Amino acid sequence: MQFKTTTADAGKRSTACAIVGVYDKKQLSEAAREIDAASGGLISGLLDQGDLSTHLGASHLIGRVDGAKCRRVVVVGLGAKANFGRREFYKAAIAGLTAIKSSQVSEATFYLTAEDTVDCDAYYRGRLAAQALGEHRYRYADMKSRNKPTTPKLKTLTLAAAERGDSAELEQGASHGAGIVTGMNLTKDLGNTPANICHPTYLADTARKLAKRYAKLSVNVLDEPDMAALGMNSLLSVGFGSEQPSKLIHLDYRGGASDEPPVILVGKGITFDTGGISLKPGPAMDEMKYDMGGAASVLGCMAAVAAMKLPINLMVIVPSAENMPSGRATRPGDIVKSMSGITIEILNTDAEGRLILCDALTYAQQFKPAALIDVATLTGACVIALGHHRAGVMSNNDVLATEIIDAGERAVDRAWHLPLDQEYTDQLKSNFADFANIGGREGGAITAGAFLSQFTKKANWAHIDIAGVAWRGGAKKGSSGRPVPLLVDYLLTKHC
Ligand code: BES
Ligand code: MN
Ligand code: ZN
Repeated sequence: MQFKTTTADAGKRSTACAIVGVYDKKQLSEAAREIDAASGGLISGLLDQGDLSTHLGASHLIGRVDGAKCRRVVVVGLGAKANFGRREFYKAAIAGLTAIKSSQVSEATFYLTAEDTVDCDAYYRGRLAAQALGEHRYRYADMKSRNKPTTPKLKTLTLAAAERGDSAELEQGASHGAGIVTGMNLTKDLGNTPANICHPTYLADTARKLAKRYAKLSVNVLDEPDMAALGMNSLLSVGFGSEQPSKLIHLDYRGGASDEPPVILVGKGITFDTGGISLKPGPAMDEMKYDMGGAASVLGCMAAVAAMKLPINLMVIVPSAENMPSGRATRPGDIVKSMSGITIEILNTDAEGRLILCDALTYAQQFKPAALIDVATLTGACVIALGHHRAGVMSNNDVLATEIIDAGERAVDRAWHLPLDQEYTDQLKSNFADFANIGGREGGAITAGAFLSQFTKKANWAHIDIAGVAWRGGAKKGSSGRPVPLLVDYLLTKHC
C-alpha cells in the first residue's frame, strides 16, 4: 500500500478513479462539484434522475466521465452532512473501495479525506482511509488450490487534503494506518488458519519469526516443563487432553527508555476449544478455531508497534493450549493449584480461557507493568450482552477502562465498560477450593472477568472480552482483525 496527498481540483486531476461523496438532499461535496462542473453536470444529472443514492454506504461506479480528467468516478453516499463523523467516514470509505473491488484500477484518488468530519481530524481520516484500503485488499487464500481469490489491484491511494496544511496530518495518519493494517493482517491470517495447522507451536514459531524480523524485539518460549517448574498448573491442566504441547510465548519490544515500565498485553491462545470433557455441542464448533483471537490480536498489535518503531516498551504474553477431551483430559471437579497459589475447582472444562490467563497474568506481574491488559474470546455471555458490535471491558481501575474505551471510539473499534462488583466474585464460590472456575449463567461475561481480577490485584489491569468481535460469521466469515486498531490507538495516545 502506498499513499500520497493532493490538493488539486478534482475535475482537473488525472487519475484512473476518483472517489467522491454526495450528502443527503443532493448536496455535492466539493470534489463531486468539481467533477460535475467539468463533465457538464454528470453527477447532478444522475442525482436528479434518482439513479444515485445518497444513503450512507451506497456507492455507484460510473465508468466514463467525459470532460473531467478522471477515467472513472465512484460516487459514495455520505448521508446527512451534520452527522458525518469518523464512523460514517470509515463506512463510506469501505463502500467507495468496494465499488471497484473487481476493477483493474491500481491507483485511485480518494476525495473523502477532504470532507469535514464532525468528530475527527485529518490524521484520523488518513488513518481510517489506510485501514479501509487494508480491509479492501485482504484475502485469505493459503488453503485454496483452485479459484484462489486474488488480491485487488488497487494499491496506491492519493488522499485529497482540503487545504495544504492538512497534508502532513493525512500522511502521518495513513502511515500509522498502514502499520495497523500490517498488524491486522497478521491477526486475520492467524485467526483464519485452521487449528490443524495453527496450534500452540505454530503460534510460538510465528512469534519467533516476528522477533527475527525486528531488531528491538526478542522472544522467549516456555515449554511444558518450564511452566511446570513455575507452578502453572492451571494453564497446564487445559492442554492435558491434547496431543499438542502447550506453550507460553513471551515477546519483549524495547523501543522506549530502559527504565520505563512496559505495557503488557496478554492474549488468550486456545488454538481449538472443543470444551474438553464438558464438550461443546456440534453446530458451529468449527468457529472455535478463532479461540486464539486474543493471542492473534496481541501478536498483531506487536507487529504493528514494531513496524511503526513506536518509542515504547511493550511485552506480549500468550498462554497457548488446545482444549480437547481424552483419557488424560482434566475432569469436571478436578482441583488445580495456580501459579499464584490460589486453588481452582474446575467445574466446567469449557471455561478454560480463564485457566490459562490466570497463570499468564501472574507471570506477567513480575515485570511490573505500567498497564496489564488481557484480550480474550472469553465468554459466549459477552456476545449475548453486547452482540458483535462492541467488546466488553472490565478493569480494577476506571481510568484505564475509560482510556481503553476512548481508544476504541477513536479507532472505530468499539468497546463498552462492564462492572466488576464483589457480588460477581461471590458467584465463584467453591465448596472445595478457593474458587470455582464458573459462576453460573447470570452475568457470565462479568464472573469470568471477576475470576481474572483475583489474579491481578497488584496491577493496573483491564480485561477485554472479544468473543463477539474477533470474527465475522455468515458470507463474510473470517477473522476481523479486531481489536488491533483499539490497542494501537491506546498505545499511541497514552504511551507515545
Ligand atoms: N471460547 C469460549 C467462549 C466463546 C463462545 C467465544 C462463543 C466465542 C463464541 C469459552 O472458552 C467458553 O467456552 N466459555 C463458556 C464459559 C462457560 C462454560 C462458563 C461459555 O461462554 O459458554
Ligand atoms: Mn471454552
Ligand atoms: Zn474458549
